[in-house]
Amino acid sequence: MCSITKLWVLNALVFLLGFPFILCSIILPNDLPKHRSVRYIPGNRAEELHMMRQRRNAPPGRSDGSSDIIKPKVMIVAMFNLEADAFLKNYTPTLYGLNITIPGLSPRYPEVYCTTTGEVCHITTAEAEINAAASMSALIYSRMFDLTETYFLIGGISGINPNYGTTGTVTFPRFAVQFGLQYEIDSGQLPGGGGFGSRFFTQGTKQFKSNLYPGVLYGTEVFELNEALRKRAFLAANGAKLVDTEEAAKYRRLYTMPAARASPGVTLCDTGTSDTWWTGSVLAEAFGNLTILLTNGTGEYCTTQQEDNASLAVLVRAAAADLVDFGRVIILRTASDFDRAPPGVDELYHLLQAPQGGFAGAIANIYVAGVRFVNEIVTQWDGMYRVGIRPTNYIGDILNALGSPHGHVPDIGVEDQFFIPVMY
Ligand SMILES: *[C@@H]1O[C@H](CO)[C@@H](O)[C@H](O)[C@H]1NC(C)=O
Ligand SMILES: *[C@@H]1O[C@H](CO)[C@@H](O)[C@H](O)[C@H]1NC(C)=O
Ligand SMILES: *[C@@H]1O[C@H](CO)[C@@H](O)[C@H](O)[C@H]1NC(C)=O
Ligand SMILES: *[C@@H]1O[C@H](CO)[C@@H](O)[C@H](O)[C@H]1NC(C)=O
Repeated sequence: MCSITKLWVLNALVFLLGFPFILCSIILPNDLPKHRSVRYIPGNRAEELHMMRQRRNAPPGRSDGSSDIIKPKVMIVAMFNLEADAFLKNYTPTLYGLNITIPGLSPRYPEVYCTTTGEVCHITTAEAEINAAASMSALIYSRMFDLTETYFLIGGISGINPNYGTTGTVTFPRFAVQFGLQYEIDSGQLPGGGGFGSRFFTQGTKQFKSNLYPGVLYGTEVFELNEALRKRAFLAANGAKLVDTEEAAKYRRLYTMPAARASPGVTLCDTGTSDTWWTGSVLAEAFGNLTILLTNGTGEYCTTQQEDNASLAVLVRAAAADLVDFGRVIILRTASDFDRAPPGVDELYHLLQAPQGGFAGAIANIYVAGVRFVNEIVTQWDGMYRVGIRPTNYIGDILNALGSPHGHVPDIGVEDQFFIPVMY
């Protein structure tokens, strides 16, 4: 294990020795899993159970006994323990300065952690859509926080589309699309033996056909984030010295796409949510198509994860209740693996066994890139972030639940289904 400072020294050494790669993760244990498929790893099960039972009995409230409302500048959102450790183990001042036990959080992660001043806080939601939505709701409706001026930085790992990036890459999406909200039919029972690539087609349509706009919208199909804020996050993260590994560098050379073969960087591209951990080029193409369809042509499917649309759905509802500002939400997704195999490599082998090597870099880079934006928000609070970064685009969901905030009419969705009619 090595600390950030040690890493810089090591880096310099590695550089001087002519080694192109950083061989150690800044943060984390040497026993990091090689594959994204091993996401939740209890270190010591007995110890974990003991801690969980202890925390379950902890009374709700602040560790310092105060009942004051905490008003954070930044709330960092992680989905599981290793993503959480990226910030919890490296951020200074410590995020263990003030612990808040909140009823309704995941039993695995029952506390929100904050710096002693409450300026920067951290929640771990637990994985996939149901956990993300339930934990975010518990946080917001606990009323232990005033989140009206808080920036939410949702920071986690993801699978990446090799046309847009590589393992270790840091991405900031404008759109988050929900892939799972579709019809699906088993491949053995496809009408006429298929017709197009995947078994998925949009809900509420009358035909088994690709690229038909859904006939029914539930409201969580697409969310659109503040473009001006996203660009600021991108600029803040862009100079970061990203962590990479030799194993990741080796595997990415199997791809033909230039973005997949390049070293990890920071990029602007969109994300998709699915509870199902899918893989392979056919589904990737289908979900790429769906992203274009649901974002009315502007979205570019780039990363895949299991939570964001759920967290965003909660934040849209909270924004409608004036409890958060939806213009202050940023998603940062780093790439731990590729969403499809390189040419000539079996998809199942790629998912389950291939030495993709991207996990350690992806975990480390949540912090390496994310902390630069967190620091920017905190240090430029007065005169910049307190008042907010005015959106230059439509923000919100596909049903216009927030009513064209800041005067931008929706560029997604179907007008006759909007909750709030558009005034022209
Ligand atoms: C907060 O929780 C962490 C992790 O359990 C612990 O190490 C720390 O001492 C706690 N801090 C306070 C102020 O109770
Ligand atoms: C999920 O949210 C993302 C990010 O805002 C959005 O681009 C995407 O369209 C959403 N997807 C679905 C299916 O809701
Ligand atoms: C994606 O859309 C194209 C048409 O734009 C279509 O030819 C192709 O079959 C679609 N792919 C999948 C997997 O649905
Ligand atoms: C988005 O595309 C759909 C399907 O083509 C269309 O009905 C809808 O009006 C478009 N929405 C906007 C806001 O342009």
